[in-house]
Amino acid sequence: MTQDEMKRKVAEAALAYVKPGTIVGVGTGSTANMFIDALAGMKDEILGAVASSDATAERLAGHGIPVLDLNDALTRVDTLSVYIDGADEFDPERNLTKGGGGALTREKIVAAASSQFICIVDESKKVEYLGAFPLPIEVIPMARELVAFEAAKLGGRPVLREGFTTDNGNIIIDVHDLKIYEARKMEDHLNSIPGVVTNGIFSHQGADIVLMGTPAGVVSL
Ligand code: 5RP
Repeated sequence: MTQDEMKRKVAEAALAYVKPGTIVGVGTGSTANMFIDALAGMKDEILGAVASSDATAERLAGHGIPVLDLNDALTRVDTLSVYIDGADEFDPERNLTKGGGGALTREKIVAAASSQFICIVDESKKVEYLGAFPLPIEVIPMARELVAFEAAKLGGRPVLREGFTTDNGNIIIDVHDLKIYEARKMEDHLNSIPGVVTNGIFSHQGADIVLMGTPAGVVSL
């Protein structure tokens, strides 16, 4: 089975967590895109979706799925029923690294506004500790060198994502070679640096369930 076939299987399996009559939070990336394509088959059963990026909003709308602004959605319901998104890495505690596509801040916001986070990945994303995948940090441009300096103090190798601007108008610094043994502490520490919008560690907003695609089928962790 190819990686794309595994992604498609988990994306389809995630439909089981979509409750009719509710608003669904939708992530960003190739696996999330496959979920959006599958969700199109249920579009008449849900009130709509909240997107974690402009790209996701466009794909949802292309399928005729109503795209709701998060603030409007939260005036209608207390929480979104479920948030479904991929990840760049996940550890045994279901802490995640996200932001390979640069949408980490909106992804974290929509995850925080949802009752349940179902993470959909293929088995290549499984790690013992986060950090093999360079950690994305969304940064206000003025703070670029400050944040890079602080990341280097932690043993990381910060690299500016060239030619990339987030949907929020900021830059991304990818930090290579960070050893993230304590995900929550590292998430909090990096977020305390002035100029950091957020970093790609999802520990506070870790997954409730990871659906992992393997050649033998989908495993729920
Ligand atoms: C985007 C993300 C994605 O979820 C992550 O990069 C995984 O993407 P893919 O499903 O394409 O492997 O965090 O910001």
